[in-house]
Amino acid sequence: MNRKPTLAVVGATGAVGSVMLQILSQHADIWGEIRLVASPRSAGRKLAVRGEEVEVLALSEDVFEGVDVVMFDVPDEVAAQWAPIAASRGVVVVDNSAAFRMDPDVPLVVPEVNPHAARVRPRGIVANPNCTTLSMIVALGALHAEFGLRELVVSSYQAVSGAGRDGVETLRRQLRLVADSDLGTGPGDLRRAVGDDTGPFPEPVALNVVPWVGSVRDDGWSSEEMKVRDESRKILGLPDLKVAVTCVRVPVVTTHSLTVHARFEGEVTVARAREILATAPGVVLFDDPAAGEFPTPADAVGTDPTWVGRLRRALDDPAALELFVCGDNLRKGAALNTVQIAELVAGEFPGA
Ligand SMILES: NC(=O)c1ccc[n+]([C@@H]2O[C@H](COP(=O)([O-])OP(=O)(O)OC[C@H]3O[C@@H](n4cnc5c(N)ncnc54)[C@H](OP(=O)(O)O)[C@@H]3O)[C@@H](O)[C@H]2O)c1
Repeated sequence: MNRKPTLAVVGATGAVGSVMLQILSQHADIWGEIRLVASPRSAGRKLAVRGEEVEVLALSEDVFEGVDVVMFDVPDEVAAQWAPIAASRGVVVVDNSAAFRMDPDVPLVVPEVNPHAARVRPRGIVANPNCTTLSMIVALGALHAEFGLRELVVSSYQAVSGAGRDGVETLRRQLRLVADSDLGTGPGDLRRAVGDDTGPFPEPVALNVVPWVGSVRDDGWSSEEMKVRDESRKILGLPDLKVAVTCVRVPVVTTHSLTVHARFEGEVTVARAREILATAPGVVLFDDPAAGEFPTPADAVGTDPTWVGRLRRALDDPAALELFVCGDNLRKGAALNTVQIAELVAGEFPGA
């Protein structure tokens, strides 16, 4: 083949899919045809990509005809059913759902950390990590390559868009209700102001902090916390990495933040860590508290890199660093990393 590869985007109408179309329009144009696919509900809609209006097709086996690479941005159960069908037709699948991430025959790839893994794909599928893991792993991968990571203690501050369009609409609705209420400081006042409809969250998220993300797992852990541990281990190739993690939802629209305590094989210096982070691809070091410089979601939203600040050596452990990271959960946390993997794979095609 000496033509540009054909790309399909399944889930092109969704929250992540829409960001993907923006990114494809901004990146170097390595693709031939870009085919847009969603559910039958969206068939016939037109969406803009690379400055052209492209008609959305309903998902069926036929849409994979002549496609070289497909990105799936659909619910887990849709990906679980359709990704193997695409792969069986010789299409390389890059899947953004949780359906295949922990399958030993499916590589879990972050191009800045383990790009080599994308070449070995026994099922023809490459998985994209979850957004919370992705928001910290580029910076941690760079530090691990130099210092050798041994242990992580992490707390997340996760944006509502991680719960899709429903999450964003819920926060907006609750903020309006709170603004229009005479909110007091008594027990139950916030609950009364926002009403019973908490959307995809177990508690009010406006003006609140909710220490729960995902579904219930064994022994009090949440599914999101298990993903952070299991996916970090797989991406870094550290099956015994110790990970303690608490995932928390906060009233931020887009951009996940994390505090990270990272313990390494031996003594580390902040000076060397700063050099590594300042030059690592995909990382911005924004760290001068005396000058008021530390990352917040307001800085990171709409941008590609992982923003790192508050870098300190642990007070009681010369082998550990403390840091604060922010990453746009819809860009690097979802759409951008998936596009980067697809671009890596496209490099295997001579016409790209
Ligand atoms: N939001 C995040 O921060 C985030 C981060 C990382 C990973 N993810 C993952 O990315 C995936 C998409 O998430 P999202 O937030 O973009 O969801 P979303 O906004 O609800 O969009 C879902 C997309 O899937 C399509 N779809 C649903 N059912 C389908 C079916 N039966 N056949 C074909 N297409 C179907 C929808 O098409 P219609 O418009 O036609 O219904 C839509 O394009 C999920 O697996 C999610 O877990 C999300």
